[in-house]
Amino acid sequence: MITYRRAKLSDVEDILSLINYYAEQGIMLPRTRSTLYEGIREVIVAVDGDSDRVVGTGSLHIIWDDLAEIRTLAVDENYRGQGIGRKIIDLLLDEARELHCPKVFTLTYQVEFFKHMGFTLTDKNAMPHKVWRDCINCVKFPNCDENAMILYLD
Ligand SMILES: CC(C)(COP(=O)(O)OP(=O)(O)OC[C@H]1O[C@@H](n2cnc3c(N)ncnc32)[C@H](O)[C@@H]1OP(=O)(O)O)[C@@H](O)C(=O)NCCC(=O)NCCS
Repeated sequence: MITYRRAKLSDVEDILSLINYYAEQGIMLPRTRSTLYEGIREVIVAVDGDSDRVVGTGSLHIIWDDLAEIRTLAVDENYRGQGIGRKIIDLLLDEARELHCPKVFTLTYQVEFFKHMGFTLTDKNAMPHKVWRDCINCVKFPNCDENAMILYLD
């Protein structure tokens, strides 16, 4: 059975392998241990009860008083298509609602998946400057080819 919970420091190596597996394929941006430890309280994980292994992850990063970002969403290749990605998004959106955050965006290559989750494409350049602060450290900066997608919460 898959369970969902807040990430622990001991999950970092599993989370890193999940993200960097996709980063090597150019599907996701790589993460470092340092940024993961610093942001660990933002991360939730999906865990397979049989193997006690992290098989999915995602995080909600607050940008400003009306905006949050979904980051580092990944589901282990062998567990894709079982609703884990959707459940992680639902949990992250619940968090945004609890914080009374009206808008959630993401920068992604997975346009169809996020459309399925209710997000719509938006103009990357319309995002507040603060969004780009972390982008400076990205290997692709300044030639970002990800799509900005946004969801307005009720
Ligand atoms: C994108 C990703 C997180 C989806 O996770 P998942 O657990 O496989 O997705 P789910 O099983 O929860 O799918 C939920 C719904 O989205 C649909 N869906 C999943 N992936 C899709 C895709 N690539 N395109 C279109 N629809 C997709 C499913 O069919 C499902 O639809 P349904 O609820 O109507 O049946 C996963 O494929 C992944 O980790 N990809 C590689 C890493 C990545 O690109 N991460 C995004 C970085 S922003």
